[in-house]
Amino acid sequence: MTKAADVIVIGGGIIGLSIALELRWRGLQVLVLTQDYQNAAANAAAGMLAPQAEEIAPGALLDLCTYSRSLYADWTTKLTMATGLDTGYWECGILAPRYVRPAFPERNRPSDSQITWHSRKELVGHLPTDNLGMEVVGGYWFDTDGQVDNRALYKSIQAAAEFAGVRVQTGVVVTAQDLQDLSQGVNGLVADRYILATGAWSQELLPVPVVPRKGQLIALQVPHEEDLPLNTVLFGTEIYIVPRRDGRIVIGATSEDVGFSTGNTAEGVQGLFDRAIRLCPALAKYPVVEQWWGFRPATPDELPILGHSADPRLILATGHYRNGILLAPATAQIIADLLFDRPHPLLSDCDYRRFIDGNKLSS
Ligand code: GLY
Repeated sequence: MTKAADVIVIGGGIIGLSIALELRWRGLQVLVLTQDYQNAAANAAAGMLAPQAEEIAPGALLDLCTYSRSLYADWTTKLTMATGLDTGYWECGILAPRYVRPAFPERNRPSDSQITWHSRKELVGHLPTDNLGMEVVGGYWFDTDGQVDNRALYKSIQAAAEFAGVRVQTGVVVTAQDLQDLSQGVNGLVADRYILATGAWSQELLPVPVVPRKGQLIALQVPHEEDLPLNTVLFGTEIYIVPRRDGRIVIGATSEDVGFSTGNTAEGVQGLFDRAIRLCPALAKYPVVEQWWGFRPATPDELPILGHSADPRLILATGHYRNGILLAPATAQIIADLLFDRPHPLLSDCDYRRFIDGNKLSS
């Protein structure tokens, strides 16, 4: 049987493409099989790089997220140098406003001395937040969190992959049966290693506990002649507001356990508008330019599934849940290192067998 590539990546979302690109940069021949680029969860995110604002508990997930955030500046610079395309990476910080003053607000979080509490008085005038809702009493400032324009990032990864010589076949449907006997390859395409990066659709191919968690989003557009009402991300309860430098303001996101049910709903969109305008009343006047939705790939413990599967030829890179954009560079590094026999210390925490040995396997 003729070999199609050294590595076949199944899934052309941000995780699959980032891995494919990293492997190509390290000299391997890589083929990506993808059903439909439009399905990629990367289109359905807001691009926050927010391990602190998301309040991820100390542990493997926080370690993985902060490691990945630390790779972002260099990774996006490398992508821009390879393609000439801007990714919208912006170390803008994130403000988490509160309507109720926490009991011990001034205490810095033990995990990060760069997280600080500011009263409303300190916020207005000191941070670019004059448009904060009147009910906001203060907020936590997360200095090291930021954002990337997830769609621009995805385009730059696609372009970099193309320039580097990653081959992509679209419209390819891989089935569970294909993965049962890899000696025949996938769709007749044979490689030394296969990487499964199919996000929320992974359970259609393998019995991994990854389920879709729907997120609805909306976008407003600030007219070009006007200044942005915010130049930092606001991260509230069940709401975030992400201003882009080009005047677009992304507002997200619902978190719904409704399977692959498509479409925006009146309730979902109304909730986003209500919560966003409460936090930042200035938003009310801007035109709505888009509303859409996507499916996060959720695992029971919110950690991704990374590393070997039961078949040594198949490597898993799925289940990134709320952190797919953030975790893309770390996932690419870690999976590439694994293929080059340099397993990262965090891999053991991300092994799929944690759901079997620990009886956490969902039905
Ligand atoms: N990372 C934000 C979200 O998944 O909504």
